[in-house]
Amino acid sequence: MSIHECKLIKLPKISDPRGNLTFIEGQNHIPFDIQRVYYLYDVPGGAERGGHAHKALQQLIIAISGSFDIHLDDGKDRKTIHLNRGYDGLLVPNMIWREIDNFSSAAVCLVMASERYDEADYYRDYSEFVQAAHQKNPPA
Ligand code: TYD
Repeated sequence: MSIHECKLIKLPKISDPRGNLTFIEGQNHIPFDIQRVYYLYDVPGGAERGGHAHKALQQLIIAISGSFDIHLDDGKDRKTIHLNRGYDGLLVPNMIWREIDNFSSAAVCLVMASERYDEADYYRDYSEFVQAAHQKNPPA
């Protein structure tokens, strides 16, 4: 897996003077069925979340309120995406190490996941992740 497969998806936005509306359909706007939704909120200033990769799980991450930075790493290349719009979803495939920081006040990070929670699907040790990533995608 490569960080180039981490894509920003423009979600539908129904603009309305009464307030905007955005919706997400599994297998339509995102390439998986949604098995789980969770969200990070009340994040104190300076806190960092993430710090792991998933063996199989894919996610769509949205700054439903406020903003934050997502640092992506495929074991070779790295990039940072700043999310700050409710209609921008960041697709994060499996085998991507992610760290999330620089949360604004009142930020809410909404995550749609392709699988239910399973601790066995996590790499929480960075060097273990890099070793596994290189086995799947040997460096040139
Ligand atoms: P973790 O995935 O490490 O959070 P983040 O990536 O946002 O920093 O999860 C933190 C804790 O919450 C960990 O003990 C596992 C638990 N958890 C669940 O029980 N269910 C879930 O759906 C999620 C995402 C986490």
